[in-house]
Amino acid sequence: MPLDPTITTVAAAVELTVVIPTYNERENIDPLLERLGSALRGVAWECIFVDDDSPDGTADKVRAIARADARVRCVQRIGRRGLSTAVIEGIQASSAPFVAVIDADMQHDETLLPRMLEAIKTDELDIVIGSRHVEGGGVGDWDKGRVAMSDFAARLARLVVSAHLSDPMSGFFLMTRPAFESAVRKLSGQGFKILLDLFASSPAPFRFKELPYTFRQRVHGESKLDTFVVWEYLMLLLDKLIGHIVPVRFVLFGFVGMSGVVVHLATLRLMLTAGSFTVAQATATMMAMTSNFALNNILTYRDRRLRGWRFLTGLVSFYAVCAIGAVANVGIASAAFQRHYSWWLAGLAGAAVGVVWNYAVSAVFTWRHR
Ligand code: GDD
Ligand code: MN
Repeated sequence: MPLDPTITTVAAAVELTVVIPTYNERENIDPLLERLGSALRGVAWECIFVDDDSPDGTADKVRAIARADARVRCVQRIGRRGLSTAVIEGIQASSAPFVAVIDADMQHDETLLPRMLEAIKTDELDIVIGSRHVEGGGVGDWDKGRVAMSDFAARLARLVVSAHLSDPMSGFFLMTRPAFESAVRKLSGQGFKILLDLFASSPAPFRFKELPYTFRQRVHGESKLDTFVVWEYLMLLLDKLIGHIVPVRFVLFGFVGMSGVVVHLATLRLMLTAGSFTVAQATATMMAMTSNFALNNILTYRDRRLRGWRFLTGLVSFYAVCAIGAVANVGIASAAFQRHYSWWLAGLAGAAVGVVWNYAVSAVFTWRHR
């Protein structure tokens, strides 16, 4: 209700918000909106595009349409990437009782939306999922390799979700706001698999149903799935399995650190044949820090990856962080050693302090949230 009904006319409330994550989808916006318009005739709907500052100007395109059509909105995120977090923020920007998520490239079948909405209401469900793997659905013409990968990933999903989902990788679903809100604070936001994340984060099992659809071919633009989605998927599973005990990023950072030790020793061995130990040790240290930086940038902080100029400034800040970490490491280890702890315990204590310092401080200065 408006505060003063005599001075305000209120547009009909939105029942369904369709959240559409985009990255370089400019050519798909017009045809997608046309299809949504005809599929959702008779429904009070709106859509929110969540664009990660696509270089092709997708956000400008959406806003140009939104100026003439109040059903269309745009959230533009700068300096960040990620399908899952885009979806989460899109849903948070909506107030509708029902929210749907659909890809911008028309690979999902938008004509399913009215039936999803119908089903969620009549069957009193939390979520309805568009599935390619129930009777009547399909994946179009995927090659054997992709089908096998998808099956394997679906089986891995059972590690974190007990619900029997035929298509846990689906990026096409419709849910109630309360169901979303029950899970939102626990979401990992890692990678692509927001549906799995939602199921794994909900305190009570979702009441769900799967409706079949056939995955279409993409016509405009290209897929953003690269080999790293496999990595991101594993990170999501790991986060759901151990994330409540120790942050996955810290585990990765630790592993990268161990790889740095290998790099260090290998470089040292190679350089020693040439001459001075001090020069060899200094070179090995630089090599290890640089390779740690590069690996963390690709693996640990993939979502905040530094490129171009920022890669260089990030590297310099990482050197600085590690230099202070090394001082702390040596200081703690020497202090422990003087108090007659055994050499290995003193050494380990120093290393542990160093790694925690490097992790915590580089998270703030090198790969800071922008
Ligand atoms: N905002 C934002 N940020 N959007 C993104 C990003 C990102 O970093 N990466 C991809 N998108 C958008 C794309 O623009 C597209 O609208 C949608 O997310 C899906 O991306 P695609 O690159 O088309 O993925 P796909 O077709 O290979 O994979 C789809 O199908 C899989 C199987 O169902 C996605 O829906 C996957 O989530 C799904 O697992
Ligand atoms: Mn696609």
